[in-house]
Amino acid sequence: MTMSLLIKNTLSPRAGKVLVGMSSKMRRPSGRMFSIQDSLPRLPVPQLDVTLQKYLRCITPLCTAEEFKKTQKIVEEFRRDPGPKLQQLLEQRAQKNINWLSDWWKNLAYLEVRSPVPINSNPGVIFPRQNYSGTDSMITYAAKIVSGALDYKKMIDSGDLPVEQLGGKPLCMMQYYQILNGCRIPGEKIDSHVCFPPTSENPPRHIIVIHNNQFFSLDVHSSDGKLLNEDQLRNQLKNIVNQSQQVAPALGILTMWDRPSWAKTYNKIIQDKHNKKLMEDIQRSIFVLCLDKSRPDLSQEEARIFAAEQMLHGGGSQLNSANRWFDKTLQFMIGSEGTSGLNYEHTTAEGPPIAAMMDHILTYCEKNTGPSSPAGGMSDARKLDFTLNNDILDDIEKAKEATEKFIHSVSVRVFTYSGYGKNFPKTQKLSPDAYIQTALQLAYFRLYGKTCATYESASLRRFQLGRTDTIRSCSIDSLNFTRAMDDSSLTNSVKADLFRQAVLAHRKYTDETINGRGIDRHLLGLKLSALEANLDVPELHKDPSYSQAFHFKLSTSQVATHHEGVMVFGPVVPDGYGLCYNPQETKIHFGVSTYTSCPDTDSNKLGVALMKSFDDLRDLLASTPQAKL
Ligand code: COA
Repeated sequence: MTMSLLIKNTLSPRAGKVLVGMSSKMRRPSGRMFSIQDSLPRLPVPQLDVTLQKYLRCITPLCTAEEFKKTQKIVEEFRRDPGPKLQQLLEQRAQKNINWLSDWWKNLAYLEVRSPVPINSNPGVIFPRQNYSGTDSMITYAAKIVSGALDYKKMIDSGDLPVEQLGGKPLCMMQYYQILNGCRIPGEKIDSHVCFPPTSENPPRHIIVIHNNQFFSLDVHSSDGKLLNEDQLRNQLKNIVNQSQQVAPALGILTMWDRPSWAKTYNKIIQDKHNKKLMEDIQRSIFVLCLDKSRPDLSQEEARIFAAEQMLHGGGSQLNSANRWFDKTLQFMIGSEGTSGLNYEHTTAEGPPIAAMMDHILTYCEKNTGPSSPAGGMSDARKLDFTLNNDILDDIEKAKEATEKFIHSVSVRVFTYSGYGKNFPKTQKLSPDAYIQTALQLAYFRLYGKTCATYESASLRRFQLGRTDTIRSCSIDSLNFTRAMDDSSLTNSVKADLFRQAVLAHRKYTDETINGRGIDRHLLGLKLSALEANLDVPELHKDPSYSQAFHFKLSTSQVATHHEGVMVFGPVVPDGYGLCYNPQETKIHFGVSTYTSCPDTDSNKLGVALMKSFDDLRDLLASTPQAKL
């Protein structure tokens, strides 16, 4: 997904501090996980001419002929000046840094963004619904999830995870090293991020458990250093639940607030030395476990929406929004009616490492029938008793109010298309991802009679410390197809050919992007180079066509898992959609979000339109088996 950063014009004077940060140079475990890390290539700077040419192609379907002509002129001027100068500055930066983009990106996309982190930035992931009910069952399942997560942690800590691959090429594994033991910290102008990896001094041994808004620190190791087994974890969680039957003040709701407001209150809280230590307990913990209130008697459809809301924002202060710590890199939520999932703070990692962890945990939960041998002596969970004065309690009330408004501004829906999955595009010799993106273009065109700037996340992890770039799914080819699809004067054979052309164009753009030849981060880098050199923002970046190209009404991402999970995140513009999909062999799960304040968007309508596109495309291709380009 993308962030609102793309609309921002300034660079903060001070960079977001990563206190115990990660870099390629930091101490790493010796296992296979990092065996090829240093031999991965560095992110290249694309050629200026190529980017500018591609940029013009990308905006063609988005602007009028008149706007295009104007932009063409601006691009030509930029090509002469200041483009080459900025390109040179960017190339110099690329020589000095292992990755010219990643630090900029961490600040601009995350730490500098001042809006609340849930919905806008933190994605939620819904796990498959479990068939249990009641507090005891919730505790048993939570103990399994924790145990599975700790089992995965062992592989990260020892560096035993295999190096991940994309299209047969190895990927940078640094993100895996940052999904545990990390936390974001609010700052009035810019946030910071802390991470305490296993190779750091005195690495974390505890998790934080939240129940009824009360916080507990639970050491998950015994005195002999062994991990607690499931039975021991269950007993510890039971004790925590018994101790926290009363609902406490909604401290956690502060992490849902806009960042400057939260930062001010944070500073008030940590003025008290004891509170400061407790905050550090949360920040240093391995992850957070939220034992949630549930809603019984929901229909299957209602339960899916409920689960999506729980993972995305917690459903409000009366439900679970205060039973969270949204600054924590990873938090698991377990409800008493079979609902579970996670939410993650995005500063240090994208979805795929989180999805891989989820798969491991769920496989572990399915397989692990008996408890392992118990660990030795364990300490009781410690309650984090914050001292909250009236001023802070007032702030909590304000944050509650803001949160209620905020969460009601979002609508989220979850769908499963069961007609086919990746299997069908593959039999048609088409890339499933490109197929789904082109189907989405069709769905959008059918609803609005036009196209829009569309963002799909592309991994840059083929490069050291790589993050993402943008695949622009709206193209001249996709528009040619979507215009043709419902044109009764055209034959199915013509439509199928246009569809295939659009899919191929998307896959070609994907290949260029994951190989470091995308245009979005390059254009951003040119602008940031200008700002760092105290030069004016170039005309190209001030052009209305540029704003339009970066107003992503469709912000999308593929996050694939073996288990039936689905990720959800908010739209990045007020009149847009957030859409995340999980293509499995025979099904496609997807989550859609919109802002309720926008009368023109409707998550349900887009979901239904996308499923109709899938049906229609299957029929189209089935009716033209001989179609060739
Ligand atoms: N014919 C038959 N099969 C094909 C095919 C074709 N023409 N093209 C692709 N396939 C196969 C692939 O071999 C692959 O097979 P597998 O299921 O055995 O692995 C499968 O179809 C999927 O390929 P495709 O749909 O093309 O997508 P991809 O796996 O290459 O992924 C992206 C594309 C863009 C999602 C990926 O490159 C990426 O960047 N992922 C990370 C996104 C991210 O970071 N998201 C999180 C943001 S928070």
